[in-house]
Amino acid sequence: NQYDFGTVGLGVMGSNILLNVADHGFAAAGLDLSPEKAAAFEAAGQPGQSVFGTTSAEAFAKSLKTPRAIMLLVPAGKPVDLAIESLLPFLEQGDIVIDGGNSYFTDTNRRFASLKEKGIHFFGMGISGGESGARFGPSMMPGGDKSAYERLRPIFEAIAAKVNGEPCVAYMGNGSAGNYVKMVHNGIEYAIMQLISEIYDLLKRGLGVADTDIQELFADWNQGELQSFLIEITGEILKVKDDETGHLLVNVISDWARSKGTGKWTSQNAMDLQAPVPSIDSAVTMRNLSSHKEQRLEASKILGNVSPDSKTDISSISQSLKDAYYFAMINVYAQGLAQLAIASKEYQYEIDLSEVTKIWRGGCIIRAACLESFREAFAADSGLQNILLDANIARLVLDRQSATRDIAKLAIDKGIPVPVLLSSISYFDGYRSAVLPTNLIQAQRDFFGAHTYERIDKEGFFHTIWE
Ligand code: 6PG
Repeated sequence: NQYDFGTVGLGVMGSNILLNVADHGFAAAGLDLSPEKAAAFEAAGQPGQSVFGTTSAEAFAKSLKTPRAIMLLVPAGKPVDLAIESLLPFLEQGDIVIDGGNSYFTDTNRRFASLKEKGIHFFGMGISGGESGARFGPSMMPGGDKSAYERLRPIFEAIAAKVNGEPCVAYMGNGSAGNYVKMVHNGIEYAIMQLISEIYDLLKRGLGVADTDIQELFADWNQGELQSFLIEITGEILKVKDDETGHLLVNVISDWARSKGTGKWTSQNAMDLQAPVPSIDSAVTMRNLSSHKEQRLEASKILGNVSPDSKTDISSISQSLKDAYYFAMINVYAQGLAQLAIASKEYQYEIDLSEVTKIWRGGCIIRAACLESFREAFAADSGLQNILLDANIARLVLDRQSATRDIAKLAIDKGIPVPVLLSSISYFDGYRSAVLPTNLIQAQRDFFGAHTYERIDKEGFFHTIWE
């Protein structure tokens, strides 16, 4: 019983998190079904560090100090239940089990309840930052059992990314709040990735801009107010050549992308909560559309493909492009954060959005310079329903709306699909509409189904014989 912290799963995330834990002076143990992974983890420990890898659940449990601190880093779904089952015979009351994967939040609620009966503290904790984040400083989103989190806080604060010395980990709220916040993080991640690829598509396919110029544009964007991890890696990606063909690697990568479900879950649950997140919905839809490659090929012959302009000089539109990206990006975050505010009420999570935006400033995939303004907005008004209602943020989008509409018109003219850009504009236009045309929808429902309608001038439900 000498190890401070253990993970189940020594894949990329598990072993990197554990090595990070070991780097901060804690003794770290890992359990994996694969003897190779257990051995590779041990071999990766530095001299002087205390690391232990095993394939035996019993040896793993025995190696840990009690009450035990065990993090599961296995794929979401059945593997999490199997990992818990394999550990249970060796656990004792008071032990803490943390699910660090992208588990669906209702699974976390179920596991929390069943482990509580056995006296085991369980909490879900979203972890973002991919491979290198896990190794050198992720952003972590724990929720649920607060006292259990408090016990492990020193370890998590040590291994987390830091922004101005502040660790990117904080208690997110009750129950499955940690997994929920991470799920919405991923929904935002999907939308921003799609938005960047829309700008790339407009430049490359719509305007015939050279790859090197697109690369320079993203590298330049990363220097100023648009600075973000996803813009930064896009600039890096556009530099990398394929060893085999000598082409830019991205140009030989297929144009259909897989997904593991977190973006889809964000949209699905947003629908359940009546939380409008059209930009996230559009991003999920575009991943789905991307997978219909054969049909797209056929349709391009029948419906006509886009033919790019011969090399356009983009200097005249580069500022508008930047503004459009910024405008849409803020609207994407606005939707995701508003979904969190709605979910927090519905599920009694008591999420503090100034904490969420604080820990998203570093370590995670959606870290971006703009998160600081969002944190300030929530710090000034903890009950803020939507960041667009904050005067500073409102100004940031209002200053850019006209340029954004110009870029959207250009994309429509060129036939380039930019659904996240367009959804972001429509979200903005819808959200700020004191009056929407939904009165007509009420009338239609009443016309064909006698569903009744409400009026602006008196209380109650009314029905009309329309014809
Ligand atoms: C992160 C990522 C991470 C994972 C995504 C990928 O924050 O580090 O979000 O959790 O890479 O879930 O999601 P898809 O496979 O669905 O694109």
